[in-house]
Amino acid sequence: KDKLEIFQTEVLILGSGIAGLFAAIKLCPKYEVTVLTKKDVMASNTEHAQGGIAVALNEDDSPEFHYGDTIKAGAGLCNLKAVKILAEKGPECVSKLIDFGTKFDESNNKLDFTREGAHSKSRVLHAHGDATGGEIERALVEVVHSSPITVKENYYLIDFVKNSKAEVCGALVLNNITLAMEIWLAKAIILATGGAGQMYKHTTNPAVATGDGIAAAYRAGAELMDMEFIQFHPTALLLPGAPNFLISEAARGEGAVLVNSRGERFMEGVPGKELAPRDVVSREIWKQMQTGQVYLDFSPMGHSKVEQRFPGIHKTCLNYGVDISTDPVPVGPAAHYLMGGVRINEFGETNLPNLFACGECACNGVHGANRLASNSLLDGLVFASTISDTINQKIGEMPNPEDVLPYEGCPDECDVRDSAADPANLKEELQNILWDKVGIIRDEEHLRQAQAELNQLMERFNPHSEVSELELGNMLAIGMVIIKAALAREESRGGHFRRDFPNAEEHWQKHSVYMRGDYHVR
Ligand code: SIN
Repeated sequence: KDKLEIFQTEVLILGSGIAGLFAAIKLCPKYEVTVLTKKDVMASNTEHAQGGIAVALNEDDSPEFHYGDTIKAGAGLCNLKAVKILAEKGPECVSKLIDFGTKFDESNNKLDFTREGAHSKSRVLHAHGDATGGEIERALVEVVHSSPITVKENYYLIDFVKNSKAEVCGALVLNNITLAMEIWLAKAIILATGGAGQMYKHTTNPAVATGDGIAAAYRAGAELMDMEFIQFHPTALLLPGAPNFLISEAARGEGAVLVNSRGERFMEGVPGKELAPRDVVSREIWKQMQTGQVYLDFSPMGHSKVEQRFPGIHKTCLNYGVDISTDPVPVGPAAHYLMGGVRINEFGETNLPNLFACGECACNGVHGANRLASNSLLDGLVFASTISDTINQKIGEMPNPEDVLPYEGCPDECDVRDSAADPANLKEELQNILWDKVGIIRDEEHLRQAQAELNQLMERFNPHSEVSELELGNMLAIGMVIIKAALAREESRGGHFRRDFPNAEEHWQKHSVYMRGDYHVR
C-alpha cells in the first residue's frame, strides 16, 4: 500500500464519454490533461446513444421552448438555473461539435431535426439515422488524438485520495493491464464516469455502467442527490437470449406505434399517446405486460423509411430474427438513465474542493424527476463546457506527493472463495432485487424487502481487488442509497412511482441529498 507509484497531471479526467472528452478538449492545451478510462476510449453510454441530441437550433424553435419542455418533463423538480444554462448554451456547444467534425444527418442541405417524447418541437439532431452518440464520440476521439491530451485506457477508478487537510487531491486507480495500482495527483479532477444501469436486470446500458465514480465520490464524502430518480426507457428489445438493445424513442417520433398482445394501440387514450413522457409510457407498458407481451409496430412508417432512418436498429434486430420493417418488435422497459448522481452546482463543482463532475454521474437537478428525451448528451456537453470555464477561473495548486494520506481502503487479500458468493452470482441477485422491488412501480413493503436482501448480499460479499468485485461493491453501495431515497420519498413524481403514494405532493417538491449515510432534503 505504501509503494504505489505516483503520477501527476494538471487536470485529471475520469471517463471518456461526451462529458469527459469535451471537457478535455476545452481545457487543453492550456493545461496538461490526462483522461483515464475504464475500457477503450469509445466504451461509454455516449457510444450507445441512438436517438440524438436535443438542441434549439431549428427555425421554429428557441431556447425558451426547450427550457419549457425540459421543465415540464422534469415534473416540478428541475433546477431552473441549470435548465436555463442547458437550453441557452446548447446551440453554441452543439455548433462546436459540428466544428469538430460531427456529421449530423441533413435533409435538403439543412440539419434534420426529429421529434421525441414530450418535446413541443422537432429539435433532436441525429447521425447515421440511429447512431448519434457513436458519431459524436468518433469526432471527439479524433480531436483528442490529434491534441496533446493523454488518454489511458483500461484504468479503473478505485477511490479518491486525500491530502493532510483531508482534501481530494487525486485518484487511486487500477491499471487493468499491468494490474498495478497507481496514484494520480492533479490540480483539478473531473469525474465523468457515467451512470449505473448495470444495477438492473433489464438495462440499455453497456457493461461498464456500474456507477464506480458515483460510489467513489460518495466514499470520499461527496453528496449524492436525487438517487431515487431512475429513468426506465419504455422500449428495449425484449427477446429471450437477446440483450435489451435500445429501440430509440425516435422510432415513435417517426410514427411507430405501441400495441398489446391483442393488437390494440393502448396509448391511444393517454395524453401525448406514444410520445408522452418516458415515465408515463413505461408505466403503461408495464401494466400491459402483466397480461401479455407489448410490441412496437414500425409499419405505419413505411418499409423504406424504416431501413433508411433506423439502419442500426434494423441490423441488430435482424441478428435476433426480427425484421423491424415487417415484424412487430417485442419491447419492454429497461433502466436507462440515472437522473440523480454526485451533487454539483451550476458550475460543475461538488461539495469537495478540487472535485468536479459532469455527465450522467453528476446531478445539478437539470433533469428534475424525469429527463426529457435526448437531453443527456446535451447535459454532458454543456456542463463539461461550464466546468472548463470554472477551472479556468480557479484551478488549485499541484498537490505535493509528500502530502498524500496513505490509502487504507484497499480490500485485503483474502481466503478461499465461497462459490455462492461469486461476484457474478451476487451481481445477478442484485440486478433481480432492484428490478423486482426498486423498479418502475415501488412500494414500502417491497423497498424494505429489497433493503434487507441487499444487506444480506453485503454480508455474503467477500471483496478481493478484482474489477468485478470492486464494481459489485459500488453497485451495492449505490443500490442502498437508491432504496433509502425511494423509501423516504413518500409520493410519486417522474421516474419515481410509489403505488402506496400515487400522487405528487407539494411538500415533496425538493431534492433528496445523502452524504456519508446522512440524509436531508433541500
Ligand atoms: C433514444 O434514442 O430513445 C434514447 C435517447 C435518450 O435517452 O435521450
